[in-house]
Order: sequence, then structure tokens, then C-alpha cells
Amino acid sequence: MQIPTSWNEKGYVCEPIPEGIDLPSEIRRLAKEKNAVILAHYYTDGALQDLADFVGDSLALAQQAAKTQADIIVMCGVHFMAETCKILCPEKRVVCPDLRATCSLAESCPADRFAAFVRQHPDHKVISYVNTTAATKAWTDIVVTSTNARQIVESFPKEQPLIFGPDRNLGAYINSVTGRQMLLWDGACHVHERFSVEKLIALRQQYPDAEVLVHPECKKVIADMADVVGSTAALLKHAVESPAQTFLVVTESGILHKMRQKAPEKTFIPVPPDDSLESEACAIAGTGQTPKCCACNECHYMRLITLEKLYNSLRHEWPLVEVAEEVRAKAIRPIQRMLEISQRLGL
Ligand code: 13P
Ligand code: SF4
Repeated sequence: MQIPTSWNEKGYVCEPIPEGIDLPSEIRRLAKEKNAVILAHYYTDGALQDLADFVGDSLALAQQAAKTQADIIVMCGVHFMAETCKILCPEKRVVCPDLRATCSLAESCPADRFAAFVRQHPDHKVISYVNTTAATKAWTDIVVTSTNARQIVESFPKEQPLIFGPDRNLGAYINSVTGRQMLLWDGACHVHERFSVEKLIALRQQYPDAEVLVHPECKKVIADMADVVGSTAALLKHAVESPAQTFLVVTESGILHKMRQKAPEKTFIPVPPDDSLESEACAIAGTGQTPKCCACNECHYMRLITLEKLYNSLRHEWPLVEVAEEVRAKAIRPIQRMLEISQRLGL
């Protein structure tokens, strides 16, 4: 991704935060004054989630963007989420507080390589996960998120050959539950790939009554141990509605903030990644700040978004997310198809 020169020169805090400022109330004041809506993904820091107008999974964030009346959309999430907002709302100013917040899946699927792959299989329909750049979406027939991937794949006739990219784990999971044999792009998420099988087994022995909640970007060996495999929104819903009291959570640890808010009487334990230091107290409290001292598995792209950057980006309406019109015109079709099917399915 192109990072503007001025961005490099100035760094990410374009102006120092005035001393003694109450950041959350200043952010809310600016958002109101500028008619801006703050959208946040479940993987962002809890303080950002608490400030946002709307917190959701990638499908819900796109749905919110598509219907907002705000003049400015501030995306506290990763770049492809902000790009989706800009594609849906080209007339609005879309701001992402740190443009370096990309995504390992989007990075794993550059548009030129994906286009070559698509061209090699002209009889295939192309399904891409929303975790892709706008340029990659432009090569796609329909976009999916983890909330609607299964239903959208099933909406194609069984004999229709399909390409699915970029997440090989989500693709393999959808193949296994639908009986399809989609051709898979070989991408993966650096967060979901590194959950520790051994540590999950040990936690299951320690908490035999706990339910295991797994995001479908995880490897098969982890998904096979799940009580529930689902999107962030589906895992949250299940955690609230299930009679179980304890949950082993195998997705980015930011989701625990909302789970604990929505079900304060329940216990949520983040399953650690392979390379975490052993620190059970930290894992259980979920209070550690960095992967070095903590069992939490964090997306370092999501964690680039901070309160300070949100404040500055609202103040300066910067950095703006732009999508070339030629790309936008192609990328909007598969996104709109996804939104239409999701609406029909009540998702
Ligand atoms: P959700 O669609 O479940 O929010 O997932 C987005 C994501 O980036 C998962 O890593
Ligand atoms: Fe991308 Fe993984 Fe971060 Fe989700 S958790 S935004 S898939 S890098």
C-alpha cells in the first residue's frame, strides 16, 4: 500500500495531544460536531469499542457503512474494512486512523497474482473473503464474510466450479461443511494460524465444562476441537445465549472485551498462541498488554489503532482512504451482491 510522503515525515501523531485533555469526551465532541460515525471491529482495543457508535464484525460494519447518514466514517479497524466503506460510500470522507493497519490475508493475495489465478480457471466463479484489497475484490464475482460464507457458497449450483480466496483455513472449513471442492488460494491469518494445539488441549483438561469457541480462520486441527465455529458476531451471540459458564476463546483476544461486557457472570479464557510465554494468571485475567508478557493473541494491525490516533484523525479528517474509481466500479458489484444475499437471508 502507498503511504503518503507527508505521512512518513510527520509520523503518526501529526500533532501532540493537548495536555490534560479528556480524550474520550473530546473524540465524542468532535464526532458530533463533524457528523462523523465511529465504527469499530471487535478486535480493537476495548477503549475504542466503548467509544464507537457501532461495534461489529466485518459484515455488520459494511452494513452500517452502507446505511449511515454521517458525512465522515471513521473506521477503527483494518484498511480493507475502511476501503469497503469508501467503495460503498464514495461521496463520504472515510478515515482510517493508521493506514498501516493492513491484514495478513489481504497482503497474501495481491490483485495481479489473484488475477492470473482467476484467468487460469475461466470456468470458475470467484468468491473472495472480505479480507482482501479493493483491487483483489475487483476480480471477484461475490464477496463473503465469515458470517455468510457458508450460505453464499451454497447458493451456487453444486456443479459450478468455485475459486475461494484468500484464506485456506476458512475455505477448507467451508468445503468440509458444504461438501464442495472449491479451489483455495493459499493465504492465512497470522493471528489465527498460530493458536497452540497443545495449550488448547491442556486448557480443555483444566476446564472440562468449558465450551470451545473457534473462528473459522483457525487451522483444521483447532476447528475440530470446537463446540462452535463461527464469525466474531456468531461466537459472541453463542457466548451470551449458551447455558455454559466458561469458554475457551480461540480468536483475537479483543472479542473478550465485548463477551465480558455482555455476559459479566461468565468466564472467558483466551487460548494462547504457540509462542506466548506461560502466564496463566494473565491469560485468565486477560489483562496483559503485549504478546511478550501475555497469553492473548492480538492482531498487531488492529492494535495500531489507538485513542490518540483516532482523536487526531477526527480532528484533521486524515488520513483519508481513497479507492480509484476504476477499481471501485468493479469492486462494488461483488460487495453489493453479498449485502443483497445477506439481507435476503436475514443476516
Ligand atoms: P469477522 O468477520 O468474524 O469479524 O472476522 C474478521 C477478521 O478479520 C477475522 O480475523
Ligand atoms: Fe487480518 Fe488476521 Fe488481523 Fe483479522 S486478525 S484483520 S484476518 S490479520
